[in-house]
Amino acid sequence: MKAIILAGGIGTRLRPLSCTRPKLLFPILNKPLLDWTFERLAETGVDGVTLAVKYMAEVFMQRYGESTHGMKLSYSKEKKPMRTGGAIKYAEEFIGHEEPFLVLNGDIFSTIDYTALLKKHKESNAVATIALYRVEDPSRYGTVKLTENSQVTQFIEKAPLGQAPSNLINAGVYVLDPKIFNYIPAGQPVSIEHEVFPKLAKEGKLFGHEFKEIWIDIGKPADYLRANRILLDAEPKKRFLGKDVNVEEGAQISDPVRVDAGVNVGQNSRIGPYAVIGRDVVLGRNVTLENSVVFPEATISDNASVRGAVIGEGTTIGRGAEISEGCVIGDYVTIRDNVTISRDVTVCPSKEVTENVPEHKRII
Ligand code: GDD
Ligand code: MG
Repeated sequence: MKAIILAGGIGTRLRPLSCTRPKLLFPILNKPLLDWTFERLAETGVDGVTLAVKYMAEVFMQRYGESTHGMKLSYSKEKKPMRTGGAIKYAEEFIGHEEPFLVLNGDIFSTIDYTALLKKHKESNAVATIALYRVEDPSRYGTVKLTENSQVTQFIEKAPLGQAPSNLINAGVYVLDPKIFNYIPAGQPVSIEHEVFPKLAKEGKLFGHEFKEIWIDIGKPADYLRANRILLDAEPKKRFLGKDVNVEEGAQISDPVRVDAGVNVGQNSRIGPYAVIGRDVVLGRNVTLENSVVFPEATISDNASVRGAVIGEGTTIGRGAEISEGCVIGDYVTIRDNVTISRDVTVCPSKEVTENVPEHKRII
């Protein structure tokens, strides 16, 4: 079976970290989201994957080359953003018309059983079968009205508050029949959610498959942290310390934590619960780090504290500095000694912050 991964989005809501890496390469438990997806596709028996790329396309090509996880990789590189449907049409030559194929929104983490979705697809005469997930607030997603025999009779993308037909959302995982290509005009941007699914629903050719495994859209920083927390909870091993991790005297580790290779945890530091620390990070003495993700090669100096935040690659947090809930600090930033950054502040790559930031703002 073949699969398309939609990987061309800009990831605006994850700025500033998405300014320097595509959203699909954000680490989850220190492994890029896309690697998790590749692993699951390979386990399912997929043998060819097409990455539909635009934004930072070269980064993907350099990293994965022509094959990965035992699967052949091809790149469908758009000249302009074709949007979700246009990107699928653009990849038609890689997919061909022989059999149904999988399409995944690349920015979600899920443990959905692809085989069950495929089985559901084969039972109906659907042009598309979409995976559905139940959520509290459907307003950020596509929502559907579903009949008892799993037919989708209505599909609305991002319905205004209170107007969604149900709490069942489009999980961004589809099995599509090659007939789908007849529904998407070539050579222009097309949104499958706005332009194709509503039409299929009207024609009775759209089916749904509700699943209950893990599903997380990492679209916003809070969701990204939540994805790491959920996976820390789901992993059987609550404390994972990589190769050459050095934990100095008096340091306290509260599980669950995941610490990648070469990390130093200084004297009397307190890390966790819910700390994910990337490769070669240096934590000084008496550092507090909880409910946070730290990208590789960052430094958090003596007496600093980081709570509920994401710290970019190579960034330095000065001595005694405080980083509060909801902050996203970009790559290669310097936060000077004793600076306090209040909640929900974002700092762009390579900035230097020399004074306290008392209110929620974006430092560019
Ligand atoms: N190749 C390519 N070209 N990929 C694109 C483009 C494009 O022009 N635009 C978006 N993508 C990719 C993104 O990288 C992402 O993986 C996927 O398509 C979905 O786009 P998002 O921009 O993340 O959409 P969304 O999160 O607002 O909504 C979508 O996902 C929800 C579930 O997370 C929709 O499919 C909703 O219906 C769905 O509920
Ligand atoms: Mg998304």
